[in-house]
Parts: sequence; C-alpha cells; structure tokens
Amino acid sequence: MKIIRTKDYDDMSRKAANIISAQVVLKPDCVLGLATGSTPIGLYNRLAECYDNGDLDFSQVTTVNLDEYKGLTREDPQSYYYFMNENLFQKVNINKDRTFLPDGTEPDSEKACRQYNEILASVGQVDIQLLGLGHNGHIGFNEPDSFFKTETHCVTLTEQTIQANRRFFESEEDVPRQAYTMGIKTIMSARRILLVVSGEDKAETVKNAFFGPVTPQVPASVLQLHNDVILVADEAALSKVGELL
Ligand code: GLP
Repeated sequence: MKIIRTKDYDDMSRKAANIISAQVVLKPDCVLGLATGSTPIGLYNRLAECYDNGDLDFSQVTTVNLDEYKGLTREDPQSYYYFMNENLFQKVNINKDRTFLPDGTEPDSEKACRQYNEILASVGQVDIQLLGLGHNGHIGFNEPDSFFKTETHCVTLTEQTIQANRRFFESEEDVPRQAYTMGIKTIMSARRILLVVSGEDKAETVKNAFFGPVTPQVPASVLQLHNDVILVADEAALSKVGELL
C-alpha cells in the first residue's frame, strides 16, 4: 500500500484528484469506480475545476458507484444518485448513460443486486476504484461481518452507520435502514484502489484497518491484500500511525 500523507483536507482532495485526472488523461475511456460520503466532495470539486479549465474530458468515461440506499429515488436529495449528480455529473461533460449506481427504487433486493452485477460485468474492469472509510471500517456499505460478502448485496446498516449518516437527513427515522452495495470481491477486482481519509475521528480506524490483522470485523483491512492501493490521508487521519510509517 502506498501512503500519501497530506497537510489537510484540501491537500488530500487535490492530490487524490490529480491521481484520477492522470487516469482520465492516460485512458480517456476508463472506468471509474466512485464513492459518496463527505470525504470525496473536495476531490469532486477539484475534478470539476479541471474540467472547467479544459484539462479534463469526461466524454468517454464510464462510472460505477459503490452503493445506493434502498428505497430512495434518484430525485431524493439524500440518494447517492442525487449526490453524484450534484457533486460531479452535472458539472462535467460525462455521458449520463455511462454513469451507473444500484437501483434504489427496486424493492426486490435479489433483482436489484443481480441487475447491478450484470452492469458491472458489462462495463469491464474498474481502472480506479475510489473509496472512503466508514468509522467502523466499512467500505461501500460492507459493514463489519463474520465473513467477506462477495458481489452486490443488500445490507442492513449498523446502528453506528445510521448515526454517522444521520447528519444528512432531517431525522433519524428518515435514514434508510438498508442499502445495496458492491461486495468486497467486486471492490478488490479493481485494477487500482484509491482511498481517501481525512480527520482525527478516522485515525483509530486507519490504524486498525491498515496496521492490524485482516479481518471481516474491519472490512477495509481486506485492502491490505490488494496489490495496488493508494491511501491519500491527511495528517489528522494518520495521527495514530505516525510511528509506524
Ligand atoms: C457512507 C458511504 C461510504 C463512505 C462512508 C464514510 O456510509 N456508503 O462509501 O465511505 O459513508 O463517509 P464520510 O466520508 O462522510 O465519513
């Protein structure tokens, strides 16, 4: 794992955006695996700036997102589709027909997951998979579990994740209890993984995930087994592993 230490959140966002930009420049028809959450917002802003400056062309890019809440429509401001549209898709010249997320409106979980697996198979290998890190070590919505789930599946969110994501909703009752997420096997099959982490509140998780044992109790720890992972993290997020670097 390559670790890039950055001064702060802005520095993290710029450096991580540069890595994605380089990918798009080198392979204009690349497949980007994208993530939601607050951490990648600065990175998406930066990519939009690069597009505005004429440095990036997204016209041939395909994107697949990690996850989507079950039960939310694309028009719902809390849906991940809406998030992606607001933060990136509508700001750049991406072909919306080449942007994919699980279908949160499909009530039949098996069907929704099967359809998303088919989409993932049809777009081919993801060139760079962007990931954030949940406080309990989750990636996508792969929550701590007794085993690593493989492909797209429906998850029931843990209390900790519901609490962490509650800030985006009006009340706790509004936070969906279930989501569709890419599985660990799919995430691990990306050519390269780019993980962005910021803030002292993630420092313990960073330590457990990347400097502790590989265990399904900390889903991100599986990334230790991937041969091309770049962790771009700010000083605060690396504050508990300084002596280990
Ligand atoms: C959600 C998303 C994850 C994300 C995590 C952390 O649970 N499903 O993909 O990594 O939140 O979010 P944040 O970056 O806001 O801490």
